[in-house]
Amino acid sequence: MSFYENQHIAALRKNYQLKGLDLPDLQEDPMIQFSTWFSEALEAGITEPNAMVLSTVSSDGAPASRTVLLKGTDKRSFHFYTNYNSEKGTHISENNNVSLLFLWLDLERQVRITGEAYMLSNEESLNYFRSRPLDSQIGAWASDQSMVIPSRQFLEEKFSEMKKKFKDNAIPLPLFWGGYKVVPSKIEFWQGRPNRLHDRFRYTKLDENNWKIERLSP
Ligand SMILES: Cc1cc2nc3c(=O)[nH]c(=O)nc-3n(C[C@H](O)[C@H](O)[C@H](O)COP(=O)(O)O)c2cc1C
Repeated sequence: MSFYENQHIAALRKNYQLKGLDLPDLQEDPMIQFSTWFSEALEAGITEPNAMVLSTVSSDGAPASRTVLLKGTDKRSFHFYTNYNSEKGTHISENNNVSLLFLWLDLERQVRITGEAYMLSNEESLNYFRSRPLDSQIGAWASDQSMVIPSRQFLEEKFSEMKKKFKDNAIPLPLFWGGYKVVPSKIEFWQGRPNRLHDRFRYTKLDENNWKIERLSP
C-alpha cells in the first residue's frame, strides 16, 4: 500500500453520536442486556447481526480469529456450530478459553465476551443439524474444514459423491460436526460516543447468579 493511500486511511474518522449508555440503562444480568441489544440490532436491519468473531488460542499460544454465526443462546451461554476437526475445534480441544466479538457498526456498538467453550450435546447438535437445508447438511459431510484441498472441483465432486451416497435417506449427523456453547465470565458492552469518550461497561461473573458491573475508561 502506498504512502498516499495510508494517509487516506488515517483520515477516515467518524464521530460516534447515536446514543449513550449509563448504569441505570443496564440490566443486572448481562445475558438479558445482550438480548436487548441483539433485538435492537435485528430491528435496525443490520446485515447478519448474529455474525460474531470467535477467537481461540493454539496449544503453543498463537491466537486465531474467524467469524461464526450465533445460532442460539440460553440463560448462561452463546451457541455456534462448526466442524470439530477444524482449526478452531482443535484449538478448543486443547484450550477452551475463547472470546466472542459482535460489532454492530450501524448502532455504534460492540459486545466483547470472554469465556469457556464446551461441546453441546449430541441431541442439541442433531436438532440444529436437522433444521438446516438438506444441501447444507450434505455440505458438512463434504468439507474437511480447514484442510488443504487441491481445487474447487475436488470439493464439488465430494459434494456430489455425498449427495449420491445419502440420496433419499435422512442425512446422519457427522461425528465431526456439532455445536459449542460459550459460557461467559466477562461481557463488555461498548457504545461509541463523541470525541472518543465512549461508554464501556464490563460485567464480571461473581457466581452463578451475580455479576459485578464496572465502567471502564474508553
Ligand atoms: C459471515 C460468516 C459466517 C460464518 N459462519 C460460520 C459458522 O457458523 N460456522 C463455521 O464453522 N464457519 C463459519 N464461517 C466460516 C469461518 O469464518 C471459517 O472460515 C471456518 O469456520 C474455518 O475456520 P478455522 O479454520 O479457523 O476453524 C463463517 C464465515 C463468515 C464470513
